[in-house]
Amino acid sequence: MAYKMENDIGKVLLSEEQIADIVKRIGEQISEDYSDSEHLVLLCVLKGSAPFFGDLVKHISVPCEFEFMRVSSYGSGSVSSGELKIILDMNRDDIAECDVVIVEDIIDSGNTLFKLKKYIQDKGAKSVKICTLLDKPDRRAEHIKDILETDYTGAIIPDEFVVGYGLDYNEKYRNFPYVGILKREVYEK
Ligand code: IMP
Ligand code: MG
Repeated sequence: MAYKMENDIGKVLLSEEQIADIVKRIGEQISEDYSDSEHLVLLCVLKGSAPFFGDLVKHISVPCEFEFMRVSSYGSGSVSSGELKIILDMNRDDIAECDVVIVEDIIDSGNTLFKLKKYIQDKGAKSVKICTLLDKPDRRAEHIKDILETDYTGAIIPDEFVVGYGLDYNEKYRNFPYVGILKREVYEK
């Protein structure tokens, strides 16, 4: 029988319907919070947040611009640490006037987001907030726990490896319309 990627999912954590509700709620909240902003910039962190970003922007009813960055936070071991590596940057000469909302797929240790937020603050953005679809607070690195604030969170999830709706394992499963827990046997074999 042909291999079916769906068989690698142990449990659906967020269905399409649940995701749609979350995205609508966050989009409406951002629209309300930035109703007075003169220069809202929604920053999509590639690749993982692409589906979330694409759906979220449809619920944002205030003027905004799009930016895209691709970063990786690498170091030793499986937990991200070390330097923030910028693979694709945003280049704007008006950053001092921009209210930036970073749109991310998931916060795990928090290293990537913490450094990315600082990077954009250091560029001189007027304000920087964080919007994440998923958060795994149990995984947060000790040194980041008290200093990384997330402003918009879709769902708090347990310490499990999840895929779908942009999230990948070895670049696969991003196209799934839901978020599911990847069976351990898939990555432990
Ligand atoms: P952090 O720097 O440890 O917060 O790493 C965040 C990045 O790790 C995310 O942007 C994802 O690319 C990846 N990541 C963390 N947890 C998961 C997961 O459960 N599934 C897929 N990717 C994940
Ligand atoms: Mg990512």
